[in-house]
Amino acid sequence: MSELKNLLANNRAWATRVERERPGFFSGLTHQQRPKYLWIGCSDSRVPANEIIGLMPGEVFVHRNIANLVVHSDLNCLSVIDFAVNELKIQDIIVCGHYGCGGVTAALAPSAGRVFDHWIRHVRDIAKFYRSEIEIESSLDAQSRKLCELNVAVQVVHVRESPILQTPSARGVTVHGWIYDLADGLLRDLTPMIDSVRALAPNATVR
Ligand code: CO
Repeated sequence: MSELKNLLANNRAWATRVERERPGFFSGLTHQQRPKYLWIGCSDSRVPANEIIGLMPGEVFVHRNIANLVVHSDLNCLSVIDFAVNELKIQDIIVCGHYGCGGVTAALAPSAGRVFDHWIRHVRDIAKFYRSEIEIESSLDAQSRKLCELNVAVQVVHVRESPILQTPSARGVTVHGWIYDLADGLLRDLTPMIDSVRALAPNATVR
């Protein structure tokens, strides 16, 4: 319990500091949010959306799940995209993965039969589809890194292909694919990788 009390104390100290530095900050956010970006990232505690891109509350709309997946039938993620595009009028969607992702690495190992394994089955499908791309990497670590990148690329394509983004109201929305390196705290743009995924899957009708 004392640890949780610490969290509440941390919160009071944070709110006091923010209000001191930016008077009226919280009251300004009570009536509306106008974030410019939608972030779709991994639940991993080491990849907190706001912190790593230096944004305050109100500046980024966030959806996170294990392995930053955009599954065609996941109403949670799809509702977030719908709200971001049609209510918040967000023009930039960022799918952000990270190297060392436990969900992605687990997809390279046998299933343990857990609920979690059902979720990362989506990553196993990607590993299967791009097996030759992954197997040219010699170490498990390198294979995992490649799959982390491919996973971001595929999820970007999933967002681009989602029916929400085919509507006129989504015209002008751009979907970006980034990857975060836990080892140096830096983000990298995976656009070239995403273009190669497009080439590998020529039937994909992506914009
Ligand atoms: Co992860």
